[in-house]
Amino acid sequence: MLHRWIFVSIASLVTATTLGQEITSNSTKSTAASSLACGAIRHDLGSSIVESSGSEYNATTQGPWSLFNSVNQPTCIVYPRSASHVQAAMSSIFQFGSHYSVQAGAHSAMVGWNSINDGVLISFAHMTNTSYNQQSDTITVQPGVHWGDAMATVEPFGVSVIAGRASDIGTGLLLGGGISFVSPLYGWSADSIKEMDVVLVTGQLVTATATNKYSDLFRALKGGANRFGIVTRYELYPAHTGTKDQKNWFGGIIVYPGSSSVALNNASARYIREVTDPKAGLIVILNTMNLTAVDANTVYLFYKGANLPTNIFGSFLSIPSTSTSLSLLSYYDISNLIAGSSRGNGQQFGASSWIGDEGTFLKGYNHLINFTRAFETELLTSDMIISPIPLSQWTARSSRGVNAIGDPGVPYAAINFHLIYPAGVTTIPTDVDAGFKLLLSQASSSPGLPLYINECDASQNVFNTYPTFATLQKTYAKYDPSRFNVEHTAGPIGL
Ligand SMILES: Cc1cc2nc3c(=O)[nH]c(=O)nc-3n(C[C@H](O)[C@H](O)[C@H](O)COP(=O)(O)OP(=O)(O)OC[C@H]3O[C@@H](n4cnc5c(N)ncnc54)[C@H](O)[C@@H]3O)c2cc1C
Ligand SMILES: *[C@@H]1O[C@H](CO)[C@@H](O)[C@H](O)[C@H]1NC(C)=O
Ligand SMILES: *[C@@H]1O[C@H](CO)[C@@H](O)[C@H](O)[C@H]1NC(C)=O
Ligand SMILES: *[C@@H]1O[C@H](CO)[C@@H](O)[C@H](O)[C@H]1NC(C)=O
Ligand SMILES: *[C@@H]1O[C@H](CO)[C@@H](O)[C@H](O)[C@H]1NC(C)=O
Ligand SMILES: *[C@@H]1O[C@H](CO)[C@@H](O)[C@H](O)[C@H]1NC(C)=O
Ligand SMILES: *[C@@H]1O[C@H](CO)[C@@H](O)[C@H](O)[C@H]1NC(C)=O
Repeated sequence: MLHRWIFVSIASLVTATTLGQEITSNSTKSTAASSLACGAIRHDLGSSIVESSGSEYNATTQGPWSLFNSVNQPTCIVYPRSASHVQAAMSSIFQFGSHYSVQAGAHSAMVGWNSINDGVLISFAHMTNTSYNQQSDTITVQPGVHWGDAMATVEPFGVSVIAGRASDIGTGLLLGGGISFVSPLYGWSADSIKEMDVVLVTGQLVTATATNKYSDLFRALKGGANRFGIVTRYELYPAHTGTKDQKNWFGGIIVYPGSSSVALNNASARYIREVTDPKAGLIVILNTMNLTAVDANTVYLFYKGANLPTNIFGSFLSIPSTSTSLSLLSYYDISNLIAGSSRGNGQQFGASSWIGDEGTFLKGYNHLINFTRAFETELLTSDMIISPIPLSQWTARSSRGVNAIGDPGVPYAAINFHLIYPAGVTTIPTDVDAGFKLLLSQASSSPGLPLYINECDASQNVFNTYPTFATLQKTYAKYDPSRFNVEHTAGPIGL
């Protein structure tokens, strides 16, 4: 420790003397801070864990799902193998006032949320273990694992993680909430967390549970995204869904022509309003680029049982479709239907939340059509993705501790407007961005509903839509009184 103290003191002296008079721009200042932080972390952890160039550094910088996040060059990338490495990194980042970012599965669509220029990137690419403990009946995952791999590791035991609906997604999903096809039955993905190891901004490591002295932090992390600390271990309650060979679900994919769009909006609104059976799962994807396409719209629908009951799915089943692929499936099969792994294009999300009302759906959808027509030459695709959030999603696992999002008391749909930009477009065009913000205001949420933070635009104040916003602010002030996180890492606004 003494050795480290001397190194740090010399580094601080260098800042004060040689850099003090010269720094004028903020960018120079942040480069200096990140260089000092990288130097200190490299000194502590060694150059095999802290990289500033080379093939692994290049692969990580180019790895993010959104092209907009794969153009940044971090001052260094830290590849922790343990929580103590994250502690060492965070201590130096805090001490030198460096900007930083954290990357798990790299699927964030929000610019800068998982990559950084002139800062330290902490990549979990070397912390990817999954294990199932039969005695405690819990699954432990390290933050770098992708859900498809975690599923494959524990499937032989007949258990599953409550992951998302695409296998390439990573554990950052848990910190935003997490919507799975089986969430009506097992709750938000975050509600399956039993315990988290968390490195606070200062480098302190704590273990948070629903009942220990960090229960406020535990709740805040489940919906607080990257604002409350860096999680280095998740212990999860599994769902006993069966092995990959146990086909306990029925369902699959129905593809519809563009002419079905209004009928699918209506069917979705009715489903949101009426369906309370937690064994049902649904996602509706409406593509607005080519409304005469035979395959414009895709619906994934599932039921835990031997068929799709017509009293639940009847309106979807009666709309004329282009193709249908339905069969008996295991939850493992369902979780691998969508990979979500394609790379090479800039991505943009925007969120809204609608009650099950046909008028609300048709109004929002028409605003999206207007937006898409105005900017179609600048876009590759423009989708509207409808995820039902039934009341059972809040109560399924609430005995294990509530999350930060907060049950609004009515069933609703999380709406995700999803834009994909053509290859080669490396920043969001300002005209499209302005039009998109107009769309978000026109197609805004029904009163009193929370937005889904994993599907928002960076400009949306999602925390302010949580019923427990004031509590969240207090918890943030308690764990990061100097506001280091909000000032040094990109992420959701509002705290
Ligand atoms: C194709 C696709 C399909 C999707 N499907 C679903 C779905 O079915 N259900 C759903 O709920 N969501 C879905 N999402 C949204 C998804 O939940 C978010 O994009 C999520 O944030 C991705 O997590 P990640 O680990 O892959 O990404 P990352 O970009 O690595 O992480 C996301 C954010 O969390 C932060 N973070 C990650 N790990 C940690 C950590 N250990 N400690 C602190 N901060 C951390 C990162 O800094 C970043 O800000 C989908 C996204 C895509 C692109
Ligand atoms: C530079 O940093 C200061 C204080 O941190 C801030 O007020 C100012 O807006 C920043 N300027 C730019 C151009 O980012
Ligand atoms: C990493 O990328 C840089 C810039 O594109 C390139 O100059 C360098 O050769 C690459 N290094 C390796 C080892 O691939
Ligand atoms: C992760 O898995 C590897 C290989 O199985 C093992 O050596 C290592 O101890 C594991 N680490 C943790 C923290 O579980
Ligand atoms: C959709 O619902 C609206 C409002 O209830 C109704 O006027 C319209 O006829 C419906 N259209 C279709 C195709 O279902
Ligand atoms: C739209 O879809 C139709 C039917 O699939 C196809 O014939 C047409 O070429 C498509 N138009 C464009 C612009 O892609
Ligand atoms: C349609 O979108 C354009 C571009 O954003 C906008 O200028 C116009 O006001 C929109 N029209 C309506 C009726 O919302």
